[in-house]
Amino acid sequence: MKISGTGSVLPKKIVTNDMLSEFLDTSDEWIYPRTGVRSRHVISDERLEDMAIEASKKALADAGINASDLDYIICSNVVNEYITPQLSCIIQGGIGATCPCIDINCACAGFIYALQIAESFYRSGFVKNVLIVSAEEPTRMTDWTDRRTCVLFGDGAGAAVLTPGDNIKGFSMSAASATDKLYQIRTLQPTPYITKEEKDVPLQMKGQDVFKFAVKASSSDITKLLKNNSLEASDVDYILLHQANKRIINTIREFLDQPMEKFPVNIEDHGNSSSSCCPILLDECNRKGLFKEGDKVVLCAFGAGFVSGAVLLEW
Ligand code: UT7
Repeated sequence: MKISGTGSVLPKKIVTNDMLSEFLDTSDEWIYPRTGVRSRHVISDERLEDMAIEASKKALADAGINASDLDYIICSNVVNEYITPQLSCIIQGGIGATCPCIDINCACAGFIYALQIAESFYRSGFVKNVLIVSAEEPTRMTDWTDRRTCVLFGDGAGAAVLTPGDNIKGFSMSAASATDKLYQIRTLQPTPYITKEEKDVPLQMKGQDVFKFAVKASSSDITKLLKNNSLEASDVDYILLHQANKRIINTIREFLDQPMEKFPVNIEDHGNSSSSCCPILLDECNRKGLFKEGDKVVLCAFGAGFVSGAVLLEW
């Protein structure tokens, strides 16, 4: 398969670090050097499904195919207002597609996992055109009195349309269960029979543990991916890393010993939009005309679980 079109949508509300310091004990002086984030797009009156539909339509237009030509939709999402139906089915109706659709929740690594699932569909031979859309609203998961988490995130939707080709050169995926490091819990409806104690817990994060996992997992995923393809880091043109923290990006860059120009970033004015980070960044690079045909591009992300993954593709 190959990526033939991309699209993305951000919420209109921009929240700067200075705006956060109006109600939180924080500051731009703390947030920017520690994370690389200066502002983020935050959902106000938008609905996540509408953003996902718009991002999908942009990706379809970029690929030059109609929604009716899609054979599958994979939506990567951690949280949205619906428990059911699945977001992919809402998107299917919104864009006017009729194909099967499925949601996956692989936290911030969701776009890479969705690509790997799509690749297996292509190898099975039953799809021609696939839409992957990552739609995330992590700002609805955090406690906005918790300065350790809410300053990191932004919302958004990113999409990619896949068509036949042999541009995907390989994946390297990993998972290491560490469910106490990054999690959110929500209560379900009570029943007359529930006797266990239950409570809503907003997003909890052991930041330094996540930081260490992120660096280790992404460095190892990329190293394995390059080795499996008999490539050196210097052979790769661009490496698009999950936009969680500029310091994480820099540490991985130093490990790979590659120049900054190979690592496009948008964290400064986007923050971390979970699995939407990769396709939004991909779309921004695509629309700027950054990639030339034949460029070797690595996408790499990590997230709660922990899960992580990297993909090598030829543009
Ligand atoms: O998609 C995956 C999601 N998550 C990540 O990738 C996060 C990975 N981790 C990180 O990015 C970093 O660990 C953080 C940015 C979350 C935190 O940076 P840190 O350098 O690890 O800081 P820390 O947690 O060690 O906190 C240092 C100090 C603490 O104060 P004390 O205990 O030293 O007095 C915190 O209370 O900074 C304080 N602090 C803040 N101060 C002002 C934490 N958050 C803030 C804040 N503003 N927003």
